[in-house]
Amino acid sequence: MSEKRIREHPVLDFQRKDGFFFDFEGKQVLAYPGETIASALYAQGLQRFTESKLLKRPRGFFCAIGKCSSCIMRVNGVPHVRTCITPAREGMKVERHGAMPEFPDTTLPCPKVKEENIEVAVIGGGPAGLSAAIVAAENGADVHLFDENTNLGGQLVKQTHQFFGRYEEHAGTRGTDIGKDLAKRAEEAGVNIHTNSTVLGYYHKNKIAVDAGNRLEIYGCEGIVYATGAVENFLAFENNDLPGIYGAGGVQTLMNEYGVIPGDRVLMVGAGNVGLIVSYQLLQAGVDVVEVVEAMPTIGGYQVHASKLRRAGVPISTGHTVKKALGNEQVEGAVLHELDENWEPVTGTERTVECDIICIAVGLKPDNHFLRLAGCKMKYVRELGGMVPLRTETLETSVEGLFVAGDSAGIEEATVAILEGELTGAAVTEKIKGGSEKLLAVKKRARAGIEEMRKGPYGQRPLEGVRACTFEGVCPE
Ligand SMILES: Cc1cc2nc3c(=O)[nH]c(=O)nc-3n(C[C@H](O)[C@H](O)[C@H](O)COP(=O)(O)OP(=O)(O)OC[C@H]3O[C@@H](n4cnc5c(N)ncnc54)[C@H](O)[C@@H]3O)c2cc1C
Ligand code: FES
Repeated sequence: MSEKRIREHPVLDFQRKDGFFFDFEGKQVLAYPGETIASALYAQGLQRFTESKLLKRPRGFFCAIGKCSSCIMRVNGVPHVRTCITPAREGMKVERHGAMPEFPDTTLPCPKVKEENIEVAVIGGGPAGLSAAIVAAENGADVHLFDENTNLGGQLVKQTHQFFGRYEEHAGTRGTDIGKDLAKRAEEAGVNIHTNSTVLGYYHKNKIAVDAGNRLEIYGCEGIVYATGAVENFLAFENNDLPGIYGAGGVQTLMNEYGVIPGDRVLMVGAGNVGLIVSYQLLQAGVDVVEVVEAMPTIGGYQVHASKLRRAGVPISTGHTVKKALGNEQVEGAVLHELDENWEPVTGTERTVECDIICIAVGLKPDNHFLRLAGCKMKYVRELGGMVPLRTETLETSVEGLFVAGDSAGIEEATVAILEGELTGAAVTEKIKGGSEKLLAVKKRARAGIEEMRKGPYGQRPLEGVRACTFEGVCPE
């Protein structure tokens, strides 16, 4: 296995001190404090993480944020561990177990159960959750914030570019710095922060269950703000399950959070802002981007991002898509073809590109299984990326005391996530502790900001979507 770590980067400085080793199938693997098992293994060149159930096809990882299960392994005897969000620890024992692992050793110690009643639970420590927690804590609520990752900041922890949006909500600042700033403010406001804590389920009367690693925690909550973000969309094409086909967020996590080189030659699929930005970040990390393909006839992202790529010599082919991935154990190339105005393949336009990574950047959908479990009324709204909860003007769902902010309520961007977080933080505090002039002012300011954002060039689509799922008073049947 050869080390695949970024040594020099124009923006990021990867501190690699106090390295340690863990056991992977009898071999010693080097890891650094703060990195996950999957990142350490990938840095050593591992691509096959698990396999498919029926055909035993190889599976690499995909999302790198705990949402797709293609990285599960046995860790210290426990199967089905999501290695992409589990921190590597010295001396741990990691092994692959395929799609159908044996039942865990029943002599392992049972997790302890802790029960507690709290005022506000915030689920998710991205910009939406952190902003909600800050407002609620600054206005006297006892707030507990849960995030299943080690680092707070959600998607922001890997955004090295300067953000677009409103200057009041940090536009012009690098995403990584916005995340750190919000996390610091949450700590200063007295938020009880629980990292590496996955919220597993919702129970009657706003009770939640949390997997805190070595114990199960049950919280009875007076109010909940749900802000778990989004899941990346996938794309149907032949051989699309090969290791080396990753979501744009997965590639960013490897490269910008852990300083691991995802591959040598990347084909980017999707020329929206995410595809363009991640392509540029790949170039910054010293990776060759062979081409960006986009099925639409025009580029969806900002021209400024597209121009940077073109200046760097990266071709952007609109009206093109991937027909199939080449390779057996991992990606070795891709066959592309042109699409006509009816999205049909144009015969005779097939061509092959050599690449070892196919990066999929074709949009996101809201992550909100928990809300369905809680019985929230949901609706399919295309403009917001899929199934979304119906919400009141203060972003409360049809389940009383359960509020939703950010991408899990509909795909927009970080500025709106921050403002929605502030609005829900104020609304949940008002509900529990009563209203105040200060809370009223926060709500007013957040609402005005959201309205302003939705007047912008990318705001029309979500605005139509939000109109379709806002209810007043009694929720429609
Ligand atoms: C490449 C890229 C570039 C972008 N550029 C911009 C930009 O320039 N400007 C802009 O405004 N926006 C940008 N965005 C969008 C922005 O990052 C997101 O809209 C924003 O992060 C959404 O915030 P959120 O808090 O809703 O979700 P997230 O940031 O996704 O945070 C969700 C959090 O919830 C946690 N979580 C999930 N499930 C659970 C669970 N069960 N238990 C506990 N915790 C859980 C996750 O670990 C995560 O920390 C970009 C996004 C990408 C991918
Ligand atoms: S859950 Fe680990 S890669 Fe998706």
